[in-house]
Amino acid sequence: MTVDFNRRGFLVGAASVAAATTVLSPSMSWAKDAAKVTRLTPLYGPAPGVAKLNANENPYGPSKKALAAIQEASLSGSYYASESAMALRAMIAERNGVDPEFVAISSGSSGVLAATAINAAQTGNILGPDLFWDTTSMAVEHQEIGKIVRLPKDAGLEIDLDAMYDAIDDSISMVQVVNPNNPTGLLTDPVALKAFCIKASKKATVLVDEAYNEVTDAPESNTMVSLVRDGHDVIVARTFSKIYGLAGMRIGYIIAAPQTIESIGKYGIGSYGLNQAGLAAAIASYEDDEFMNASRAKIREGREMVYSALKENGLTALPSQTNFIFADLGSINAQTFREAMEKENVLIRGIYRDYTNWSRVSMGRLEHVQMYVDALPKVLSQFS
Ligand SMILES: Cc1ncc(COP(=O)(O)O)c(C=O)c1O
Repeated sequence: MTVDFNRRGFLVGAASVAAATTVLSPSMSWAKDAAKVTRLTPLYGPAPGVAKLNANENPYGPSKKALAAIQEASLSGSYYASESAMALRAMIAERNGVDPEFVAISSGSSGVLAATAINAAQTGNILGPDLFWDTTSMAVEHQEIGKIVRLPKDAGLEIDLDAMYDAIDDSISMVQVVNPNNPTGLLTDPVALKAFCIKASKKATVLVDEAYNEVTDAPESNTMVSLVRDGHDVIVARTFSKIYGLAGMRIGYIIAAPQTIESIGKYGIGSYGLNQAGLAAAIASYEDDEFMNASRAKIREGREMVYSALKENGLTALPSQTNFIFADLGSINAQTFREAMEKENVLIRGIYRDYTNWSRVSMGRLEHVQMYVDALPKVLSQFS
């Protein structure tokens, strides 16, 4: 496979996006949670005895192979990353049956996702369901260059694809679907989603954020990447932050038509946005099926633990195809619940938008999931 080392814009960092993705802006609730974590913790990762179940990380990573690669790459940390970036891009392209020009890598998928949103804002607004992982697309509102248009609330917290299609008017330049969705954990049926993407992409670009695809029961059937290959105006986003256990190593990517990659690339900073150790970890992890399978098994085990604990305590939750669960707390306020859980050294998420009774807990190391399970009856009893 030949690669063009001089091509500009294939790697999207985070130029105009940097403020949105790296600064702890007070308007970003996840950042406030993260800031709290840093007060509680040493420099790297959570303190011993703290169950960090608030950011959908996979603490079984980095894998052994990734750790070895990080160490090796760090010895060349004085050099900017370029060959490793090209190598990862070629690997991703080959696995997905596209040319490398279809792939843009960034520092976490957040970099390229925010650039994607900013690119979309040049020609219109972004349409999404009422509840989805909108952190990067919010950049267009923070920068006052566009809007996120949301569908009305869906009672079942599903994504209503028909309503979404009907809502695409001339003001919409991009539709954003997260599948499976965050924070709900719900998987949108891939057959229905495919049909939607084909129809909708005739009216606007469709961005499908598949951050949790590898966690699902059938990653191959759930991905929309074949639509990119078939020439539809679809962008698929993926990340090494979730099942690969590399959230802190910051590598993610999109797959899209080369002209789309080129256009989004205008809002990035190219390979300057990438770090050698992260790339090394991603390269070492990409084909590490043993680690992926082991991680998937731990996530499933954790989910079962949480589901039975919720049930035993009279609560319900949505069926998750991700490494987190969205639980219905009934009359309990999710923010107060989060604060009570924190006193038990269990860190979870607080309220999303006005979904005041919904609480998201990530899977983590099983001993940390067990801390959530143990704390649950104690914390719930404070509300009765
Ligand atoms: C759906 C979704 N997309 C993208 C991201 C961003 O992840 P990263 O920038 O680490 O790739 C997240 C993080 O939680 C997410 O939940």
